Amino acid sequence: MSLSGRRILLIVSGGIAAYKALELVRLLRRAGGEVRAVLTAGGAQFVTALSLQALTEHKVYSEIFSLTDESEMGHIQLSRSADLVVVAPASADILAHMAAGLCNDLATTLLLATDKRVLVAPAMNVRMWQHAATVANMATLRERGVLVVGPDEGAMACNEWGPGRLAEPPAILAAIETALAAPALPLAGRRALVTSGPTHEPIDPVRYLANRSSGRQGHAIAAALAGLGADVTLVSGPATATPPEDVRLVRVETATEMLRACQAALPVDVGVFAAAVADWRVASAAGTKLKKTPGGAPPELQLVPNPDILATIAAAGPSRPRLVVGFAAETGDLRAYAEDKRRRKNCDWIVANDVGADDGIMGGSENEVCLITEAGAEAWPRLRKEEVAGRLAERIATALAG
Ligand code: CTP
Repeated sequence: MSLSGRRILLIVSGGIAAYKALELVRLLRRAGGEVRAVLTAGGAQFVTALSLQALTEHKVYSEIFSLTDESEMGHIQLSRSADLVVVAPASADILAHMAAGLCNDLATTLLLATDKRVLVAPAMNVRMWQHAATVANMATLRERGVLVVGPDEGAMACNEWGPGRLAEPPAILAAIETALAAPALPLAGRRALVTSGPTHEPIDPVRYLANRSSGRQGHAIAAALAGLGADVTLVSGPATATPPEDVRLVRVETATEMLRACQAALPVDVGVFAAAVADWRVASAAGTKLKKTPGGAPPELQLVPNPDILATIAAAGPSRPRLVVGFAAETGDLRAYAEDKRRRKNCDWIVANDVGADDGIMGGSENEVCLITEAGAEAWPRLRKEEVAGRLAERIATALAG
């Protein structure tokens, strides 16, 4: 009874292979699984709700706007009450809806609303499977963590030959068992944005204003979030630290470019703003190298403020991440300044650190931080920056799960 106590939400979409869904339900039940079935209008052309109901021993759901169904179990609850959502067979149409985030019936609404992992078993004509649109849709879904089983190659109902046949029910059962056996990563399906490194603000084509940030802390946070399964965009200034590999890296130079890249990465579930953004830039950087003139006065640099990236993204609005984490680098009165910064910049948490003259934090390998949340301040011991990142990522996972 490998699936004892596990709950599977099975979506049966249209296609001649839909009859195999009945055999799949039988196998799932025999393995101890509890199955709730959703039948699309297309699926109902090939199997009946009555057959699915008899085999699952539960009501079969088909209607999005059903008053009785909504009063018994709302569609959001239906999408969340399962341990795994399985689409078998998954038609080209339902895969396209999933990739585009479209929902116009119960099945596609559940797929958009679920916070559980999704396994699809595609089944369609070979030309449809090989069409560039389906290939792109599958790539999108795989990138988002959707699990895929099949399709198999063989003779098709339409007298063609090739990949497109629904995987056999025992193979789908095995994929379901594997998916449920592997512990889900706590940030799977979550999107994260991390800023890191310094910014370089040009004075002329060869000179710039900068700071000592190495990008090590921000890069480690991006890596830790990706390690917990998040889909991470790392917007990095010209950092010396090596960027992690399993993130989407966007390299920028200036604060203005960093803001633009952050805005382009939205929406995200969490934003962590670890970059040491230059507060000012030269009002008008010279287009050609500034030259010394014998006996001449040094150039006067007029500075103007840079946009505050953290405050801009944290401002209330529909694209504000659910959790916004800022950093505060201070040289005294750490908690008071950091708490003030948390309120002023409208962020949820502040990771505050003392960057006093000779503690080696800025550009170093260790960090001693204080996490400031609505609940108060929490001093962490001095740790390697990777350990700080790991702890922070765990806290973020817990907060987003709540
Ligand atoms: N930050 C930002 N954009 C800026 C300046 C800062 O996104 N233009 C972010 C940093 O990434 C960090 C937080 O704001 O998360 C705090 O930065 P810090 O330099 O410590 O504070 P300041 O805003 O510069 O305030 P002050 O100069 O008063 O310390």
